[in-house]
Amino acid sequence: MCQHESTAAPKKRIFSGIQPTGVFTLGNYIGAVRNWGKLQDEYECIYCIVDLHAITVMQGPAELRNNTMRAYALMLACGIDPQKSVAFIQSHNPNHAELSWVLSCSTMFGELSRMTQFKDKSARHADNINAGLFTYPVLMAADILAYNADLVPIGADQKQHLELARNVAVRFNQRFGDTFTVPEPYVPQNGARVMSLQDPTKKMSKSDENANACVYILDDKDTIMRKFKRAVTDSDAEVCYREGKDGINNLMTIYGCVTGKTMDEITVEFAGRGYGDFKIAVGEAVADHLAPVRNEYARLYADKAYLNECIATGSEQAYRMTRKVLSKVYRRVGFVDHK
Ligand code: TYM
Repeated sequence: MCQHESTAAPKKRIFSGIQPTGVFTLGNYIGAVRNWGKLQDEYECIYCIVDLHAITVMQGPAELRNNTMRAYALMLACGIDPQKSVAFIQSHNPNHAELSWVLSCSTMFGELSRMTQFKDKSARHADNINAGLFTYPVLMAADILAYNADLVPIGADQKQHLELARNVAVRFNQRFGDTFTVPEPYVPQNGARVMSLQDPTKKMSKSDENANACVYILDDKDTIMRKFKRAVTDSDAEVCYREGKDGINNLMTIYGCVTGKTMDEITVEFAGRGYGDFKIAVGEAVADHLAPVRNEYARLYADKAYLNECIATGSEQAYRMTRKVLSKVYRRVGFVDHK
């Protein structure tokens, strides 16, 4: 072996995605996107704005186009460096949709019927229970398996979809021979499920009708402070992490995630102080933490030429990485070679 040749093991591969359905929430950020940036040095990372997934819910075309560009800029503003990671838009790489069809033939109707997100979304969009909403997890499996990703950084709400992707990979491998890496979820210990500020038994979500329930990462400081001051807590007055104190537990988790403090440190910091003080401290810490993201987003969104260049490079890299996998899948399945 030549002296300069590296003996290091190849980096493990990471894939994750986010829907371009509006500004990311504090839940998206803490549960997923912020961790994406931290993994870039240790892993080979591929991150994607999943616009194909977004159309399972009715989208105005102009709004979707706009939201996709905004989501891409936001992803970079959250710390994804297109020099280090492959950062692209899902519809720019047709291999995802192609693989999704093949995988759908290895996915059972029954297992898709059990997906809680499908049940929730069909209840919320009863006038548009389209087939895409049902097969959504197959496309998500294709996103991941097309890259043979080892790890998938996600919030807790996506674990069931990841389990399905694993099952599909195993089933395909058993039937056609080893083809796909079976991916593992990468769920943060803290903040995997950031809860609504108005109903802390529900996950924080863009689709919440109560404007105070959800913090968006581009909210200005006044808005953030207002939302935290109105956060629902409980009737005792002790800042400590305990079962049954859902509102306080959620605020402590958020505060811990943006300051790096442990639950014990937070308990000591706020001993003998009221919830009012605590909520102000959480609001300030979140606003301070997000200020650089907001500034970076404004800078990037103004530079469309740079964004378009990054998008083009990312799509090309993504296409190249997946074409070979798709050819292998086609051969394994028995499609005639196309010369
Ligand atoms: P999406 O767009 O709903 O959310 C993006 C990421 O944010 C996480 N998340 C949360 N984490 C903690 N607390 C919350 N309240 C919260 N809300 C959202 C989600 O778990 C997710 O990690 N189907 C996916 C997108 C997708 C994908 C993929 C992800 C498509 N293909 C392949 C990973 C790999 C989704 O709708 O995420």
